[in-house]
Amino acid sequence: MTLAEALRCAVKHFAALPNLETANPQMEAELLLQHALGLDRTQLYQRLRDEMPPDKKETYHDLIWRRLCGEPTPYITGRAAFYDIELAVTPAAAIPRPETELLVETALALADKRIQDTPSLTVVDVGTGCGAIALALAAHLPSAQIIATDISSEALALAQGNAERLGLASRVHFLRGDLLEPLEQPADIVVANLPYVRSAEWERLPVEIRCYEPREALDGGPDGLRIIERLLRGAPPVLRPAAALLLEIGFDQGPAVVALASDVFPKASIEVKKDLASLDRLLIIQL
Ligand SMILES: C[S@@+](CC[C@H](N)C(=O)[O-])C[C@H]1O[C@@H](n2cnc3c(N)ncnc32)[C@H](O)[C@@H]1O
Repeated sequence: MTLAEALRCAVKHFAALPNLETANPQMEAELLLQHALGLDRTQLYQRLRDEMPPDKKETYHDLIWRRLCGEPTPYITGRAAFYDIELAVTPAAAIPRPETELLVETALALADKRIQDTPSLTVVDVGTGCGAIALALAAHLPSAQIIATDISSEALALAQGNAERLGLASRVHFLRGDLLEPLEQPADIVVANLPYVRSAEWERLPVEIRCYEPREALDGGPDGLRIIERLLRGAPPVLRPAAALLLEIGFDQGPAVVALASDVFPKASIEVKKDLASLDRLLIIQL
């Protein structure tokens, strides 16, 4: 069996399983084959006509089997691509999602404008998980001070390891604690992708999320907004006068978060930005 044939076979199995709701069969079959063979994408494509090495057949079969049982590909390979960086991921933290790249893009655009007046911007990523947002921002904002917080010490250890691998450890300060509580200085930009799934929705989520990702990273309480509301209400004392707050939200939470934000920041400019699927995705508050 050639590598191309092994790929086709895996894609067929993935496509036939309706319970893999979030799977992208072709891409995931490739990532798992790359992982089994220790190849990057270009190397894999150059060798598609080669025979599958006999000692790797079973390895690939096992990886495919784990995926078919529901385990997310990033937890199997231990890697996830996010924005323009690659991160190590483990079940200690949620897997970074492509829709969160909108938050990074928007924060970078805002930071670019503000950096002229405040060259040493302080940007805080609350609930950093594996460090995805904080590290993507650090890679693009060399003069900013980046602070990343999380309540989970396991997630922070993972994020710290990612910072070291990406050569960004000296630029990002990791603090453990509840929301903005560990912060010791005022912030210019606060970004956060906090848990926003409604508790009652948990059992209806795809198996790859429900059975593998940490619930405390995704469950936002009965209305999904318990943690976001606490962040908003606790934010005013730590924000500089012209600060901005960017929060990822669920597609149906726009009106509720705008009402909350207007209550806490009655004089601020408040908007909700849609993602590529035209769904509400980002709350932007500018003081
Ligand atoms: C949805 S995950 C997002 C992880 C990462 N920022 C990303 O976008 O991929 C939410 C993160 O918020 C953290 N978290 C939950 N409650 C928190 C709290 N009260 N204070 C700080 N972090 C919290 C979780 O541990 C988890 O790492």
